[in-house]
Amino acid sequence: MKQISTFEEYKAEYKRSVEQPEQFWSEVAEDFEWKKKWNTVLDGNFEQVNIKWFDGAELNITENCLDRNLKEKGNQTAIIWEPNDPNEKFRTLTYKELHAEVCRFANALKNLGVNKGDRICIYMPMIPEGAIAMLACARIGAIHSVVFAGFSAASLIDRINDSQCSFVITADAVYRGEKKIELKKIVDEALLQTPSIKNCIVFNHRDSAIEMKPERDLWWKDLVKDASAEHAAGSMNAEDPLFILYTSGSTGKPKGVLHTTAGYMVYVGYTFKNVFNYKEGEVFCCTADIGWVTGHSYLVYGPLLNGATTIMFEGTPAYPDHGRFWDMIDKHRVNIFYTAPTAIRSLQAHGNEIFKNKNLSSLRVLGTVGEPINEEAWHWYNENVGKSNCPIVDTWWQTETGGVLISPIANVTPLKPSFATLPMPGVQPVLMNGDGEEISGNGVEGNLCIKFPWPGMARTVFGDHERFRQTYFSTYKGYYFTGDGCKRDEDGYYRITGRVDDVINVSGHRIGTGEVEDAIDEHNVVVESAVVGFPHDIKGQGIYAFVICDKKVDDDEVLRKEIREHVSKVIGAFARPDKIQIVKGLPKTRSGKIMRRILRKIAEGDTSNLGDTTTLLDPAVVDEIKAGAV
Ligand code: WTA
Repeated sequence: MKQISTFEEYKAEYKRSVEQPEQFWSEVAEDFEWKKKWNTVLDGNFEQVNIKWFDGAELNITENCLDRNLKEKGNQTAIIWEPNDPNEKFRTLTYKELHAEVCRFANALKNLGVNKGDRICIYMPMIPEGAIAMLACARIGAIHSVVFAGFSAASLIDRINDSQCSFVITADAVYRGEKKIELKKIVDEALLQTPSIKNCIVFNHRDSAIEMKPERDLWWKDLVKDASAEHAAGSMNAEDPLFILYTSGSTGKPKGVLHTTAGYMVYVGYTFKNVFNYKEGEVFCCTADIGWVTGHSYLVYGPLLNGATTIMFEGTPAYPDHGRFWDMIDKHRVNIFYTAPTAIRSLQAHGNEIFKNKNLSSLRVLGTVGEPINEEAWHWYNENVGKSNCPIVDTWWQTETGGVLISPIANVTPLKPSFATLPMPGVQPVLMNGDGEEISGNGVEGNLCIKFPWPGMARTVFGDHERFRQTYFSTYKGYYFTGDGCKRDEDGYYRITGRVDDVINVSGHRIGTGEVEDAIDEHNVVVESAVVGFPHDIKGQGIYAFVICDKKVDDDEVLRKEIREHVSKVIGAFARPDKIQIVKGLPKTRSGKIMRRILRKIAEGDTSNLGDTTTLLDPAVVDEIKAGAV
């Protein structure tokens, strides 16, 4: 596959990709294996919201990830699994072994009656079987819906029911640091309310005592025991769905963002190779969980499409101590390391001790993703980890974009700390003003939109195309609206400033304020709540909840604790509010709308200028909230 190697070349490629997008992407696509080539490269537009890429083509993405690598890289390591406990032996799977495991599990799924188009929920820890399950689904055309294993039973229920999954794949339990997470128990609780599920497949990871419900629950090992290690990959149409991934937005329940086969493959394969300047034989380590899009695109699909060695890390950066990442890099001679700013910030405070006796000389490229990286963290990462010798690619993208849209190309794009810099070839970012017009020129700021389709973009929201159109294509007609604010500096470099909608980004996890409010409101003494984000030194943003109760609460601390626990139960521990303020009223306009702008300011601790409060129904509530801020 073509790799951009100089900045001049990038500029030329970029120009060509904008002037002749179809020509450009068809050339990229030529480097993949197709069972049948496409009739058209791009159909549809952002007015109609009916995008198709490589229509008419037939392929199987796993043939590109696996079979194609067998001949020359059969004995090369495809996946290195680094366990939570560093004293436990790590595991490796060669391309040959991974291929065989995927074929076995694909045959097993087929034997259970899984068909093309069926939805399969994957609720797995960070173990190779998570990736094997994803690839086995793709091999037979089943649509995987991976749910991050930090989500609660209630969230799992919503996701399984929304896409009507027929199978769920999980493990008995997993340790994250010292904490044991009983995945099967969570699934058992969920399955009481998911009538579409026929079977639950369980991988025995920790020999944990679990209940296996006869008929419904099946052991992974029993299913693959006699399954053949050969499987002829099914032929998928270019636009056949590949996966669903739920993500939060401003309103309503999380959406099942749907990605299709050919465009996603081409885009993720191309961006992996270019953004990270990946070289044959290198070891790539992405610390994201497979439950998020980064895990899908740059831990599983992107690296395997390029025949790379990819690391799956089960643990946390702080266990058994804050040197764990560096240990892992040293042990596996990692060449490219991709993590989140929140992880960097959480390690920054621990001094240089954490690098003692760790050899990081294998590192060549560093990356970040998920949230804006502040300059201080950028420099710390650059100096301490990269030894001022590794480019940092600050990759901006989203679940909906499938792959990286704005990012430096390692060793090609001149860097600027905390800037995602320039768009990938084929990506046309624009900034919009309050009147819905494109802002021209440089040294400007606005809402970030994308003007032209790219192959990796999501095609719809599962089962609700109208919601897809409304959410992303109705704010600015004819444009994809990202929900992010952005600056373009004098050099035309992009710097993402954060969400402009009601989504908060906590440690790189996207959380809708409405989701947290709904969870809090379920508590029996809560009448109403309003949730906003506030700047948090490590997490990027923290969650601040203003809560009205219907009776005098005896002990605020007890209530706060209960609310936090309830949010954990409804969404997951990562969505627990950091700060909870019990208030008598919320600042509402006469039409009953909460003025979040004011709450955000109070949460930020900036009450000097709250702006115009005269349109409020009861301006006095503001003083009360200000006085009680936590
Ligand atoms: C934010 C994660 C600044 C952004 C791949 C986006 C970023 C949301 C960056 C998507 C970055 C992601 N700089 N902000 N490099 N990368 N974001 O869907 O607000 O989990 O809209 O996808 O994360 O989060 P998601």
